[in-house]
Formats: sequence, structure tokens, C-alpha cells
Amino acid sequence: MTTQFIGKENFTIHTQTVSESCPSNIALIKYWGKYEHQIPANPSISYTLNHCKTNTTMEFLADEPFSVQTFLSGNEEVKFAEKIEKYFKNIEQYLPWILKGKYIIRTENTFPHSSGIASSASGFGAIAKCLMALDEAFTGKTSEEESLRKASFLARLGSGSACRSLYNGLIVWGATEEVQGSSDLFAVPYPDTEIHEVFKSFNDWVLLIHEGQKSVSSTVGHSLMKTNPYAERRFQEARENFVPMKEILKSGDMESFIKLVEHEALTLHAMMMMSDPAFILMKTGTLEVINKIWDFRRDTGLPLFFTLDAGANVHLLFPADASEESIKTFIEAELLQHTQKNGVVKDVMRF
Ligand code: PMV
Repeated sequence: MTTQFIGKENFTIHTQTVSESCPSNIALIKYWGKYEHQIPANPSISYTLNHCKTNTTMEFLADEPFSVQTFLSGNEEVKFAEKIEKYFKNIEQYLPWILKGKYIIRTENTFPHSSGIASSASGFGAIAKCLMALDEAFTGKTSEEESLRKASFLARLGSGSACRSLYNGLIVWGATEEVQGSSDLFAVPYPDTEIHEVFKSFNDWVLLIHEGQKSVSSTVGHSLMKTNPYAERRFQEARENFVPMKEILKSGDMESFIKLVEHEALTLHAMMMMSDPAFILMKTGTLEVINKIWDFRRDTGLPLFFTLDAGANVHLLFPADASEESIKTFIEAELLQHTQKNGVVKDVMRF
């Protein structure tokens, strides 16, 4: 199934340092539930962010015994190093040189640490890009397209949603008849000609409702879908949602876009509540913000809406157009008070 990504047996390794940067992403149709080898239970589509990034420098010391040392913002992170070691061992067939040296990995996020913004997507995206830069140095040049595709494939094996962070714009991961070339193994950009202008310049302001560790990790969340009695229906719905999404993206139908994106976010959290054991990642502030957004939209008709990740933070979505100043004023005056420390990360998607 994955033979196209098997690594070249001929390579010449040497000590080398590479640096790469990768943004985070936010899903509009969500991936929640997976099968063995990080195969998603349903296709997903996301926006890649612009400012929320991970910058990673990877030092490879050739011919030293295999080991991994990681530093996050200068502080050594032993747990993360163990995770990366396991990951490298897992992907050896795709990069046959990977266990033949020592790694020192320095990484930093441009967004606040423990803000709850998914750092695994940007983190594994940046690591996969570094690995492909080393692969090119050891095995020879590959085309940019092939290299990005393999980086997406490798990032997926680290953290599923990371595979979507390799590309800018609207990105699809998971095979669906609605998107040509889509695959369970790697992400592909959604065709540019099929996207209305209004969706090409969008704000995502992330309200940091609750900073710190989540009570349930996404790994546990995904696995709880295996016994969730609503899982099959959910996977089916996500697949079906690609049909209206495609039409919406083409036509620029903002009202339907808002309805679909908010429904996807609430469904994700509904699945958590219907798991056994049940869990809730939203906080009081999350619900207060959602209600205020709905009131604001009813009162003004302006296109401010939300999506949620697997956490309490609210991603405020609104087009970068004539309405954005009124929306920004409302957010500052009414929504910021529900964050923990007036925390907001102002990002924008442009492509
Ligand atoms: O990639 P993971 O295993 O961290 O899962 C992420 C799942 C969601 O962020 C909740 C949804 C998605 O599609 O990104």
C-alpha cells in the first residue's frame, strides 16, 4: 500500500544540520477516529494558519549511536525525545538511514507554550520537513512535489492532522470521491480554481480560553471512537459533508459555510460527550463565547463564526473584508473577557 514511499537503499550519510518551519492548521470538516497505521476514519479539510508556526533545527551527527535529544525553547524535553525516538524507529523503511546517527532537535513555537493551540501538527510537520531535507542531502535531489508529498506522508505517521500542515491554503486529507487525488496516506491541496475569492483571505483569531494541559489527549479521544455507538454515523456524516462543502467553496455561500463549519465543531465535541467514559473539553468560557457569537450574528448579520479543536479554545473565523473592523471591535469589547489572561492569537489565512 505504501510502496511508493519506501526509501532508497543507496545513501551516503554525513554530519549535517537542517532548519525548517511549519505552520499549524485548523480543520473545518474534522478528523476524529482512526484505524491502524494512522488511517483516518473519514476525510477532513483544513485551513493552514500563517503565524502559528513551529521552527525546528535538526542536527544529525553521522555514525554516532542512534539517540534523540530534544529542546523546546531551549529547555530539554525528555518525554518528547522518547516520542521522537519511537517515531523514527517506526519510519525506518521510508528513510533507511534514519537510525544511523544521533539527533539534537531544537524547536520553538511562535505561539504561546501550553496555549492549547495544536503544536503537534506544526511540530511533526517541521520534523518531517527536516527529515526530507536530510534525505535529499544523503540520497540526492527529488522534485519539490515528491518531497512535500513524502513529508506529508511522514508527518501523518507522527500526528495525523500534521500531514495537512505541509501545504498552504485549504487542504484535504483522507480519500473522498469529491476531491480528485485525495488519499488516506497524505494530504493534498484543495484545487484553487474551485475556491471562491471570499474564502482565500480569512481571519482566525484564537481565543485562549484555557491554557495548560488538556484533561484527555487526542490519542485517547481518537481511540474512544472505537466504542462510541455514534461513530459510524459520524464518519458517514463527515464523508457526506464534503458534498455541500464543495458547492459552498465554489459558490462563496457564506451562510451555508458558517452552518456547516459550526456543526462540524459541535459534532466533534458531542462525540466526546457520547464516549465511554465521557469527557468534556469545553469550558464555561467556551460556551459563553459561542452564545455571544450567535447573538452578535443574529443582531448584526455579520459573518463571525467559530470552530473548535480538541480543547477549550475558540477559533473565531471571519472573512478579511469590509465587515472585519466591526467584528474586531466586537471581539475586543465582548469576547476577550472570557479568556484566561486576555489571551488571543491573531492569525490569518491567505493564499
Ligand atoms: O492529529 P491529531 O491526532 O492531534 O488529531 C487532531 C484532531 C482534531 O484536531 C480534533 C481535528 C482535526 O481534523 O484536526
